[in-house]
Amino acid sequence: MDLPFAENYRIKMVEPIYRSTRKEREEWIKQADYNLFNLPSEHVFIDLLTDSGTGAMSDRQWGALMTGDESYAGSSSYFNLKKQVKEIFGFDHFLPVHQGRAAENVLFSVLVKKGDVVPGNSHFDTTKGHIEFRKAKAIDCSVDEAFDTNGNHPFKGNIDLEKLTQVLESYPHEQVPMIIVTLTCNSSGGQPVSLANLREVRQLADRYEIPVIFDSARFAENAWFIQNREPGYQDKTIREIVREMYELADGMTMSSKKDGIVNIGGILAMRHEDWFQQASVYNIMYEGFNTYGGMAGRDMNALAVGLDEVTSADYLENRIRQVHYLGNQLINMGIPVQNPLGGHAVFVDAKRFLTQVPKEQFIAQTLAIELYLEAGVRGVEVGTLLADRDPVTKENRYPKLEFLRLAIPRRTYTNNHMDVVAAGLKNIFDRRESITSGFQITQEAPIMRHFTVKLKPQ
Ligand code: F0G
Repeated sequence: MDLPFAENYRIKMVEPIYRSTRKEREEWIKQADYNLFNLPSEHVFIDLLTDSGTGAMSDRQWGALMTGDESYAGSSSYFNLKKQVKEIFGFDHFLPVHQGRAAENVLFSVLVKKGDVVPGNSHFDTTKGHIEFRKAKAIDCSVDEAFDTNGNHPFKGNIDLEKLTQVLESYPHEQVPMIIVTLTCNSSGGQPVSLANLREVRQLADRYEIPVIFDSARFAENAWFIQNREPGYQDKTIREIVREMYELADGMTMSSKKDGIVNIGGILAMRHEDWFQQASVYNIMYEGFNTYGGMAGRDMNALAVGLDEVTSADYLENRIRQVHYLGNQLINMGIPVQNPLGGHAVFVDAKRFLTQVPKEQFIAQTLAIELYLEAGVRGVEVGTLLADRDPVTKENRYPKLEFLRLAIPRRTYTNNHMDVVAAGLKNIFDRRESITSGFQITQEAPIMRHFTVKLKPQ
């Protein structure tokens, strides 16, 4: 008999978590104004709010942490990380920053100005926020397949080249500071971008002389999908694929809290010396001196090791298998999810799940609250709340898709936890017809409102 798959690590330290009752949760969610971000973590049993900064570090990472060099200038930890960034991504110029949005802030301070447009594949909300904050516009050029959760396109993160060409033709060159490709594309379901598509985007960018930036939060998961799905890459290593990807970019922003497998940190790296000189000034102003930026020496050391671990095919197989373990259970139960399954999370299609709740009453948020009440599981709404209001008309923006995202922290939960999540959703699915109303907003911020919004039942 074939031996079953098992993780290639064992657990050395555990953290107790509290299994609450439904009655307790009913009280707690009310106190939290029906916003899952407002819940203290001890009120959550299984926390799938995000895979960002929530993973478990390895013994090697904890070891590296203890030898961190906390010198203000020129620490060995900085040089460890700089060497790793050069080796893995091939960039000569590197600035440490405190997280992904800080890399965006520093780079966009150099490149983006009022009136600009920045095409990409469903920009992440902080990316869009940093663009719109500068009175510029993010234009979504995702392939149409990304918006059909039933379709099985292997690379739903891809950029639609016709849509991109349209943008590059419609705006003068000076108004398009860059194209941003997000790897994997979080907003559309952790969906990968193919190397063929990256190459075509590069060709277009060259024709119009526009730089290409990779938002690299989940770059290794993207490389794993290329290895497993794109013809011609089965025999290449993850490292080789990553190098091939990054040869096509002018620079990268990265939240290291995902595929860096650390709890805090970020990377800004680039090919061009002149960008680096300008970005260094902003980095010193916003983050810190260039050899630590927003990071402690110990965290840079742990990140250097994390980048090594994340680019191993074994690690990635463990990781993505667990996401698919949960996703496949849901699919077998008939629960609608984004297909094919992505790399870091299962995205439940809330519109197809809760068909009775009007879109004005926040369908995916309603499902997120139901799941919390049912099983103590915290997911996150990726829908109308997250989409914010239109900056000009102030009307709610209703995105094509309303997702409940179940993001799985790296190396943190067991498959038993995944079974609880699946059973919780199944119970709601069985009584879905009885859920006919959602929530209304009582208080909201003008930008990135989903973090702080207050709600009450409709
Ligand atoms: N880009 C992508 C694709 C992201 O997913 C995130 C964060 C960022 C940029 C910003 O990075 O949080 O380190 O400042 N995503 C988290 C999430 C928050 O839950 O998906 P950050």
